[in-house]
Amino acid sequence: MNFKRCYIEISKSNFRDNLKGLRNILPEKTNIIGIVKADYYGHGAWQLAQIMKEEGVKDFAVASLSEAIELRNAGLEDAILILGYTSQDQWLLAREYNCVLSIVDYSHAVRINEFCKENRIQLKVEVKVDTGMNRIGVNPELSREQIKTIYNSPYLIVNGTYSHLCRSDSFEESDRQFTYRQKETFDRFLNRVKSLGLNTGRVHLSASAGILNYPEFVYDFVRPGFMLLGFDVGLVEKKYERKPVMSWKSQVEMVKTVGANQGISYGHIYISDKERKIASISVGYGDGYPRRLSNQGYVLINGQKASIVGRICMDQMMVDVTDIKAVKAEDEVVLIGKSGDLEISINELASLSDTIVDEIVCNLNARVDKYFID
Ligand SMILES: Cc1ncc(COP(=O)(O)O)c(C=O)c1O
Repeated sequence: MNFKRCYIEISKSNFRDNLKGLRNILPEKTNIIGIVKADYYGHGAWQLAQIMKEEGVKDFAVASLSEAIELRNAGLEDAILILGYTSQDQWLLAREYNCVLSIVDYSHAVRINEFCKENRIQLKVEVKVDTGMNRIGVNPELSREQIKTIYNSPYLIVNGTYSHLCRSDSFEESDRQFTYRQKETFDRFLNRVKSLGLNTGRVHLSASAGILNYPEFVYDFVRPGFMLLGFDVGLVEKKYERKPVMSWKSQVEMVKTVGANQGISYGHIYISDKERKIASISVGYGDGYPRRLSNQGYVLINGQKASIVGRICMDQMMVDVTDIKAVKAEDEVVLIGKSGDLEISINELASLSDTIVDEIVCNLNARVDKYFID
């Protein structure tokens, strides 16, 4: 049954092409960690992980243990790194589900170590190093003793060491300098670990913007997220054509003609100036459509633009179809994607709603059905 109320279509072939394109620009020895958190930014973590596996990706990362367990329960057997914080009550479960924990600061490392010692177990960890984002990560100036406590512990299996760039999506000189300083700080930390005769495990630094803008930052792995979905976040080099993976669609529910001076939707913030043909469509902020596009923004119907009129409701919104011929119930409505010769890109929708693409895709509600096509 194809529920046409409000749904996204995910182009598997575009995703695969984007992934192959990434492979072509990466050094031979650099591997990929598939960043599939937040249901791979609303695109379907499990399904896209399958395509990544077919293309040789063997490592994945998510934000939380619950996301990891969901993927394990779906059948993903490959390595999973948890990028976010895990608390003590989750550590045994993380071990049971064979996940790698991130160490978010030195005290976290000490607590995990003590826990393992008390329970006579080992846990797999990766050391996140804070090189300037000031989000999570150990201080790169850890003392030699502190480094040894982590890397030399019989209880911690250090699978890797990584950091995250926070200004790599800008070409401003100050941002570029900062990004190089982050890399230097990271390298210095790695060298200090190695100079103590200890093993850093696998090393990774760059997410999408870093991969595209700083190809000279070469380590064992990269962590691409948004770039494989074909949209742009921040300023990034156009190294190869990346195709949009998601289209977002809905349908017309009914069409009616209203006379002049008629208010539409809650609060009547739109009043018709003359007789107008209005279509109600099956999408609202309850699906994740940005409410701030009330009385702004547009959708595509039969290859033509239809402006949003009045407040967007939870499950519906109204659009002006006065100039579109023969609109009827169940006609396709394109919210993101192509209709005839026109296209609304996700970047355009994000900028119209004064937000970022990531927020649009992460706000898609679970009731928005996903169809994997081609
Ligand atoms: C630690 C880490 N690595 C990789 C990514 C993927 O980032 P992007 O989607 O920008 O490629 C993220 C996303 O937030 C992240 O937090």
